[in-house]
Amino acid sequence: MTREELEARALAAAKTAHERAYCPYSGLRVGAALCDINGAIAVGCNVENAAYGSTMCAERGAVMAAVVAGMRAPVLLAIVTNGRTPAAPCGSCRQVLVELAPGVEIISVADFGAGQALERWRLTDLIPHAFLPSSLDMPT
Ligand code: THU
Repeated sequence: MTREELEARALAAAKTAHERAYCPYSGLRVGAALCDINGAIAVGCNVENAAYGSTMCAERGAVMAAVVAGMRAPVLLAIVTNGRTPAAPCGSCRQVLVELAPGVEIISVADFGAGQALERWRLTDLIPHAFLPSSLDMPT
């Protein structure tokens, strides 16, 4: 599968996921799709709650789905929102991604009806000097 095919599949999956977002409070639909080199895909959408702090982001939902599906090495994270500008993952999602999908490139699309805007980042550029499992090492 070519890189272009991988991106197209991940973006299509993220778009479907964003349509399933449960977001009665913010109205912002977020869909996320993690995929590995073989084209396996794990998706998530944001799921809000009347107790706002219990809301879950789309990206972390996709990480949870990837873990339970046994996806070992995600290479790409596609994000689709109905916002005006492409959204980068929030800080909490970056922290979870850096542990479980550290190598991902991110492609984010703002799909606002009248048009689309697209941005790309590397996760490592979005979370420099991350807190890692090795940060837990202590002298014995
Ligand atoms: N949201 C995500 O799904 N991912 C992020 O990285 C940031 C924010 C969701 C949470 C909430 O449902 C809505 O966007 C507005 O914050």
